[in-house]
Amino acid sequence: MSQGPTYEPAAHYDHVTAAWQLLLGDELHYGVFADGDEPLDVATAALTRRMVEAARLPEAAASGTTLRLLDVGCGSGGPARALATGFGVEVVGITTSAVGVQTARQRAADLGVDGVSFEQRDGTANEFPDASFDVAWALESAHLMRDRPALLSECARVVRPGGRVVLCDLLRHREIPFAEVRARRQDFATLREAFGDAHFEPLAYYADGLAALGLVVEVADDLTQPTLPTFDRWRANAATHHDEVVELIGHEGHEAFVRSCDVLEEFWRDGTFGYGLVAARRPG
Ligand SMILES: C[S@@+](CC[C@H](N)C(=O)[O-])C[C@H]1O[C@@H](n2cnc3c(N)ncnc32)[C@H](O)[C@@H]1O
Repeated sequence: MSQGPTYEPAAHYDHVTAAWQLLLGDELHYGVFADGDEPLDVATAALTRRMVEAARLPEAAASGTTLRLLDVGCGSGGPARALATGFGVEVVGITTSAVGVQTARQRAADLGVDGVSFEQRDGTANEFPDASFDVAWALESAHLMRDRPALLSECARVVRPGGRVVLCDLLRHREIPFAEVRARRQDFATLREAFGDAHFEPLAYYADGLAALGLVVEVADDLTQPTLPTFDRWRANAATHHDEVVELIGHEGHEAFVRSCDVLEEFWRDGTFGYGLVAARRPG
């Protein structure tokens, strides 16, 4: 049932995780659409596949190597399960949301998925040893972390020489003047209500940040256009699951989600916000 507004990411995700499985699906992220007609789960799997290829997981699977991957901001564990079952990867998923950890553990147990574990940890101070993973992976979690430089340095620190950091997230394509922020403050308040506290950076911020840490950037792709149909699918899910979502996050939560789809779609179309993916290799 609704508990009222909670914008800090851990509390926000504790509040919305169950509703978001209805609104966004098993994988709590945008979809990459080839022609715009695919169901949402096909498109979310396609985004995960883009991350998989950027991380070079198929090559490792083909050579029989078991990679160890840190999934920073693991949601309810959908991508982690896909990596373990599809590519034999050993995944450690972390999130600051206690509900997220509990849900991810339960889903993996219910589905009998081995090779995944989930812990409540912060991606900006993960406390894992240096060079203890082959891949550090942040699928749509960076925008929720206030200290994004710490996220990048923590990811770079925990990958071994020759390992990779892969990240995809919402992007800011241009500076937003203060007068515009004021004029659109209701739109920004709607986004905050639906998605919690968030900060969007340009694609170059992540690529340059990883390069400054000594990594070699291999991929920097803008995915704004192919992610655009996501909003239609989210609105459709909000209509289909109206009563269950209202039960979980209240009328105001449901309304904020639907309005935020309209706001984000407009920002996508007018060139303000978008989506992108970066991958970089640690030399050695
Ligand atoms: C949009 S969801 C993406 C979930 C998952 N990667 C997926 O694609 O299904 C964002 C995730 O980031 C997590 N998160 C937010 N801030 C975090 C932080 N500082 N450290 C770790 N996880 C965080 C949230 O709890 C949530 O699980």
